[in-house]
Amino acid sequence: MTAVLAPTRALLARSVAESLIGDSGNRWKHTAGVAQRAAELADRLDLDPDVLVAAAWLHDVGYAAPIALTGFHPLDGAVHLSAEGWPARIAGLVAYHSGARFVGAARGLGEQMAVFPDERSLMADALTYADQTVGPTGVRVDTETRYAEMLHRQGPCSWNAKVGADRRPYLRAIAARVEHLLAV
Ligand SMILES: [Fe+2]
Repeated sequence: MTAVLAPTRALLARSVAESLIGDSGNRWKHTAGVAQRAAELADRLDLDPDVLVAAAWLHDVGYAAPIALTGFHPLDGAVHLSAEGWPARIAGLVAYHSGARFVGAARGLGEQMAVFPDERSLMADALTYADQTVGPTGVRVDTETRYAEMLHRQGPCSWNAKVGADRRPYLRAIAARVEHLLAV
């Protein structure tokens, strides 16, 4: 399955994402790569692509300046999607993707994030795994390369670096769970 052939909600998600971050260069390339990866994972892991691929297209829309409220893109994206009538499940997947819970808590945004469902499931794992196996230019990478590149790009004083002691093992556990299922 490809993202292009994914069901209606995923196509709508692509169009919404394009309107918000379609002109963001590498970020758009990354988003398209994550959506493609998500489509493959939905197929391999028997997950609903109408949820996973839609969430993948939307996971980084919170970076768009017009909708940036707090400056924390998972939360800003979820708030925007919720206001636009997207299902709570999609908003929740966006709010908590890639270990956002750790930075959210560290930045004092836990209460604002708590209004979104924190789905701890294979679906949530698959979204994070898709995000963590596509680099910032849309190129496929392994999770360790992705993490090291992120740390180098964001720097040792970044929020992700500050919460790394909790977030890195969390991401590694997700990768191990997904890769175990992919190997079966
Ligand atoms: Fe991403």
